Amino acid sequence: MPYLGGEELKRVYELAQREGFALVANNFAEPNVLIGLISAYSEAKSDLLLQISLGAAKFAGGGRPLPGLRALVGYVRALSAEAGIGVFVNLDHITPDHVEDFIVPALEEGLCSSVMIDASALPFEENVAATKQVVDLARPHGVLVEGELGKIKGVEDEIASDEAFYTAPEEAAEYVDRTGVDLLAVSVGTQHGVSKGRDLVLRVDLAQKITARLQELGRGVPLVLHGASGLSEEQVRALVAAGIRKVNKDTTYQYVYAQTACRFYLENRAAILPPEGTGFDPITFESGAGWSPDKKLFDPRVMGRKVQGAVAQVAREMLRQVGSEGRSLYA
Ligand code: G3H
Ligand code: 13P
Ligand code: ZN
Repeated sequence: MPYLGGEELKRVYELAQREGFALVANNFAEPNVLIGLISAYSEAKSDLLLQISLGAAKFAGGGRPLPGLRALVGYVRALSAEAGIGVFVNLDHITPDHVEDFIVPALEEGLCSSVMIDASALPFEENVAATKQVVDLARPHGVLVEGELGKIKGVEDEIASDEAFYTAPEEAAEYVDRTGVDLLAVSVGTQHGVSKGRDLVLRVDLAQKITARLQELGRGVPLVLHGASGLSEEQVRALVAAGIRKVNKDTTYQYVYAQTACRFYLENRAAILPPEGTGFDPITFESGAGWSPDKKLFDPRVMGRKVQGAVAQVAREMLRQVGSEGRSLYA
């Protein structure tokens, strides 16, 4: 099944709303994570929602976000053609200063199925205006828009929020009504990064209240949970039961990648680095001690395959927790 657009993604969210499960939204910035994810989701027969942040696009483009986005989406398109599931791309945490140079060309070139406009650092009225502008731009392309109300604690490339505040249900209703967003990111006590649960209280009750208020008003958009890495299965299940339909995971994959690579290189140190006090020239391959590294171990594809396997394993477990296993609409 090829890489799909906003209309098809909307149907997946409608199914999730009806049947009470969520999608994991999986951040990636390079191929090993992507390959691991496609393998896990194909095997599980779940549609795959990928996310690309501005920082990830910038990284993939050697400092230039738009070429980076084109490259990553090209990779997604090529691999998803053979995947046997629906594959979608969300642009993650795009701030209002990147509407013209990133969101507009991404919409025009068909580089996303949905986009998150993150104007949550702005006062309410300005957030509404910035979000509404992106909704108006995205509609003609059939691309879904996620807006955010309430700050999510943590520091990312483009977003820095020192304090977190919880989303107010009444404000959420007004925000959805006035902006016309398709998805609403709420702040209920999660944090980006590894510091989960250390200094904020997780408010499942608040997610429930926001869901109930939006439904009462006939504005029952899917709710999005940022900063979801580090939650227990019990917490994830409670939040999904409270109306969360998109569960964002980035830090888990970053850690699994680093853990796998670090273990591999530590285990194989002697085959890759020369003995203490000896050198090895990477151009001439000369070594004072007549030592040689082992190409069967230093070829980056050897470590890369281990990362792909480890990502697939953790992705499989997380999609099971949100209940999306076997629910592909496009398999
Ligand atoms: O919540 C967002 C992601 O973790 C993005 O992080 O901007 O460092 O790529 P990044
Ligand atoms: P984590 O840092 O908890 O993985 O959150 C990811 C996220 O919210 C992406 O938007
Ligand atoms: Zn986030």
